[in-house]
Amino acid sequence: MSSNTRIRIVVTGLLASLLCLNGCTGKEDEADVAAGVAADQGGIRLVTADRIINADSEPGNWLSHGRTYDEQRFSPLAKINESNVSGLGLAWYFDIDTNRAMEATPLVADGVMYVTSPWSIVHALDAVSGELLWRYDPQTPRSWGAYACCDVPNRGAALWNDKLYVATFDGYLVAIDVESGQEVWRADTINRTPPYTITGAPRVIKGKVIIGNGGAEYGVRGYVTAYDAETGEQAWRTYTVPGNPADGFESDAMEQAAKTWTGEWWKFGGGGTAWDAFAYDPDLDLLYVGVGNGSPWNREVRSPGGGDNLYLASILALDPDTGNYVWHYQTTPGESWDYTATQHIILADLEIAGELRRVLMQAPKNGFFYVIDRETGELISAEAYVPLNWATHVDPDSGRPVEVPGARYEQAHSIVFPGAWGGHNWHPMTFSPQTGLVYIPVIGSAEVFANPPDFSFFDNHLNTAIDWQAVADVPADDIAEGPSVVARVSAWDPIRQKEVFRIDSGNGWNAGLLSTAGNLIFQGEASGEFAAYRADDGEHLWSAYVGTGIQAAPITFEVAGEQYVAVVGGWGGSLGLFTGDPGPSPNQEAVGRVLTYKLGSEEQLPSPKVVEYTRPDIADTTASQDVIDHGGVLFLDRCSWCHGYEATGNGSFPDLRYSSAATHSIWNSIVLDGAFFAKGMPSFNGVLSEEDAQAIRAYIIRQGRLAFEEEKQ
Ligand code: HEC
Repeated sequence: MSSNTRIRIVVTGLLASLLCLNGCTGKEDEADVAAGVAADQGGIRLVTADRIINADSEPGNWLSHGRTYDEQRFSPLAKINESNVSGLGLAWYFDIDTNRAMEATPLVADGVMYVTSPWSIVHALDAVSGELLWRYDPQTPRSWGAYACCDVPNRGAALWNDKLYVATFDGYLVAIDVESGQEVWRADTINRTPPYTITGAPRVIKGKVIIGNGGAEYGVRGYVTAYDAETGEQAWRTYTVPGNPADGFESDAMEQAAKTWTGEWWKFGGGGTAWDAFAYDPDLDLLYVGVGNGSPWNREVRSPGGGDNLYLASILALDPDTGNYVWHYQTTPGESWDYTATQHIILADLEIAGELRRVLMQAPKNGFFYVIDRETGELISAEAYVPLNWATHVDPDSGRPVEVPGARYEQAHSIVFPGAWGGHNWHPMTFSPQTGLVYIPVIGSAEVFANPPDFSFFDNHLNTAIDWQAVADVPADDIAEGPSVVARVSAWDPIRQKEVFRIDSGNGWNAGLLSTAGNLIFQGEASGEFAAYRADDGEHLWSAYVGTGIQAAPITFEVAGEQYVAVVGGWGGSLGLFTGDPGPSPNQEAVGRVLTYKLGSEEQLPSPKVVEYTRPDIADTTASQDVIDHGGVLFLDRCSWCHGYEATGNGSFPDLRYSSAATHSIWNSIVLDGAFFAKGMPSFNGVLSEEDAQAIRAYIIRQGRLAFEEEKQ
């Protein structure tokens, strides 16, 4: 990464063998009985409500996103364990034709693996051989990619009876027949405008499919919807932030929430999208929802008179039958830094101060690790899991963070950490009841925030309400003096609220985690290494190179008495695109890949395909340095999210420094007139002027020249 990176992501430093296939406990047998008649339809075992509730008793399968409703991502399987994991080898791989982000957690039910990939395409694979059983493509128009803040990934699907559910990037929820791969029903969850996007996995609770959405930077108002799993009919919809009071409130909760907003926030949507985290407690019968950031990020613009802006950056507990509000806990009142609380939510029962507490745990972007009573929403404890400078601590009485003056950047710019990528992003953590530790994939980020002198909201475009010129003016060294955060796995004791040990990661962007009863944790890396560590001390025990950067969380499963570990590899995603960090190598063609390992196996991966970059034949820019610099700021604001910080490319999108003379000759029609909109390239008509577009072009030509100079050396 470039040394003058202004938004700085710190790169460095960061047995009981279960012999029965579907679980061995009496509880499971009961579940089978309960599944009763339905259980053998068409030769498949249905994934019934009982099986999902009792998923812990059939560790051979991975039936729902976090394996169990408590989303611990801990597997009781232990045939692969600390003493033999060094003998792990590749059983099979399956390549998916994509160069975009692979973020999915696969599901495994009775020998079949279901993997989702970019554009919400689903592959059903034989879990033992990797053979393709069927492929489902929802045919999402690629133009919807123009509304992607963070690439077009899909993080997973849900199983229920004889159907698999996946949400499409353009907002449909689809039910697929698990045997044939055919679409059964499709529900439009977003009504097309404003441009919501969905990247998260649905969950199914008591016959209802629960799904949220994303797009808080695009002027949307967040909500969660439940659909009847059989018919696709809408059961309920619960908004996370209030709309225009003049239109009336949908619920008391919305009326209460509206009192914490000021100005005309609804014109910007408000945000608060529930784009990833859900968990369910069948005993308390509560659905937990992680709620995202404000639209736009900057509260000064969004809600100029201040206010907590409920329920942004909150955890909401809802009644899963009705969607009705039960309680909330707001992690970041008056969110102003893109501090989502959509990060992974884990439920566990912990003994705290001599009392067994039913807790909910989250490490949201804001840098504090929260332990919350999941029955009442009461804060039990919160401590910083990364260096942070926007608040000193969370006040235990009020449950509110104590902010540091100036962190809100109302008067002057502020270098804030964690930055907008958070101390932890969507990458799943894991809790091992065996070690009592939560393993958090921590990210090191710091970011400059600055209040803009004026603000224009643009429909269908990214709106942060941050002054990017001011951001660009901050000397890089000032940011470098920020936090000594590193990307790492932090093995966190949730009772004592402190780190027990850490595993430094070689790269800035981290990957999801899995823990197992074999005293193991598994994690991939941007570098393409997939590794196993001892769960109680972090000792590195095994790794294999997968040929592409990894960000997704691994899973483990068992078929016919053999334990397997699987992970998907594939670079991209928000930070992947932005930093231009290509994962393993800039000259290697990006691949999406599903990999499955077992003991004693020696399958080999193919050699990577090399990408040749041809230096374009274009004249140097004659623009002044001022114009080039202006182009650089506009690029940072409008283009870097997809084309890479400082236009350094990223393996997923065209590297603009190498664009051909023909492309340059139609520059304005691409950038301003939407010539490539069908491919997902936004039209910046009305957002940028012709001079702006040409200033960006000058900046890119100069960036190209600098790259070519480097090539020559
Ligand atoms: C939401 C993601 C996104 C953003 C933001 C974005 N682009 Fe693109 N851009 C794309 C996609 C997708 C393509 C087409 C990729 C392909 O050819 O398949 C593309 C292609 C291009 C091309 C053609 C490149 C070539 O060599 O064929 C240019 C030029 C371009 N973009 C410029 C810009 C500029 C300038 C900005 C900022 C003002 C910008 N883009 C912002 C997604 C984006």
